[in-house]
Amino acid sequence: MRVSCRLYVEVTDPEDLLTLDFNALPQPLFVMGGGSNLLFTGDFPGTVLRMANQGRSVMPGSTGHLVVRVAAGVVFDDFCAWAAAEGLWGPENLSLIPGEVGASAVQNIGAYGVEAKDIIDTVHAFDRQERRFVDIPSADCGYGYRTSLFKTDWKGRYIIIAVTFRLSTVPQPKLDYGGVRKAIERRIEGMGSETYATLGLLEGGAHLWEGRRSQSDRRVSDPIPSIPDENLTPQFIRDTIIGIREQKLPDPKEIGSAGSFFCNPVIDREHFERIVSIAKAENGPDYEVPHYDVGEKVKVPAAWMIDQCGFKGMRLGGAQVYPKQPLVIVNATGAATPEEIVALERRVIGTIREKYGIELHPEVEHV
Ligand code: EPU
Repeated sequence: MRVSCRLYVEVTDPEDLLTLDFNALPQPLFVMGGGSNLLFTGDFPGTVLRMANQGRSVMPGSTGHLVVRVAAGVVFDDFCAWAAAEGLWGPENLSLIPGEVGASAVQNIGAYGVEAKDIIDTVHAFDRQERRFVDIPSADCGYGYRTSLFKTDWKGRYIIIAVTFRLSTVPQPKLDYGGVRKAIERRIEGMGSETYATLGLLEGGAHLWEGRRSQSDRRVSDPIPSIPDENLTPQFIRDTIIGIREQKLPDPKEIGSAGSFFCNPVIDREHFERIVSIAKAENGPDYEVPHYDVGEKVKVPAAWMIDQCGFKGMRLGGAQVYPKQPLVIVNATGAATPEEIVALERRVIGTIREKYGIELHPEVEHV
């Protein structure tokens, strides 16, 4: 279903923010990125403002790094694609996340063991309160799991105009999240030795890595070994991540969604043990509940709980719990109403509260 706003403003030159009369705009004002993590629950009575500025500038950084300032309106994945093509390390695990650069710094987007905050150096913003441009170091932005001060205490105050990222020129592969390393190994196996060689991963390939490894004496006919981390390229990792995402996440061009609908909850260990007991009672004594340790606490995948509650593929009108990744609610028919999406969301939250005593919180912002 379509919703509309009273006024939509697209800003291509940040300097225009200095002269824009914000008080003359229909209120409230909502600053939107690509809109890929939003659920409009009805018509919006005020102004939706979107930074649509483009461009990037590269500057030298400290040894082994360079910094790149990217305009807020750049599609985040275009930035990832550029970095990978240049052989720069940092955003490759964040490949194919929908949305724009400005929003990435608000939401602290994350995937496969990397968060935007890991590569953000400085956020450049227009301060509406003081009507001037400011540079905010990443450390001051209050970054946490899918959150920042831009979403909380500072909500409405800043309009992000650009983000400076700090990228590495030396290999820094991050492969330890979930199935990333396995997917890379599987991809290499599937390629066969010939392609493996053309990637520069066999004999003679070491030169690609600027002498980090001595030349290998492997032959193309030898069995394919597990790939040494230092021989990977950002492009190879990016392509692998894209492969994983395409397998389980809906393509926004084909089916509407706002990505992960819920945040993964973090609970204390005692609570987790109660969940383990429930899961073992249902699935057998050897069953293992997927989880990640976060200090003293435990993060339990919301996708797993939603799956265990039998929601996979469940429909309510045009809204559906996506069968391949139940963390995502999709607009399956293209005609789902906001009410249907919210009703399905409530049903998921209520069932999980009842079964596991956990309150799921949406990652998607409701406007
Ligand atoms: N699982 C099931 N059943 C399923 C699917 C998953 O039991 O049908 C379990 C599996 O054990 C799996 C676990 O859930 O290992 C977690 O699944 P996965 O790693 O695929 O996703 P996630 O941890 O729930 C997070 C992010 C995603 C990001 C992936 C990969 C959140 C809310 N979501 O999901 O981000 O792509 O990790 O890093 O943190 C997004 O924010 O829009 C988004 C897609």
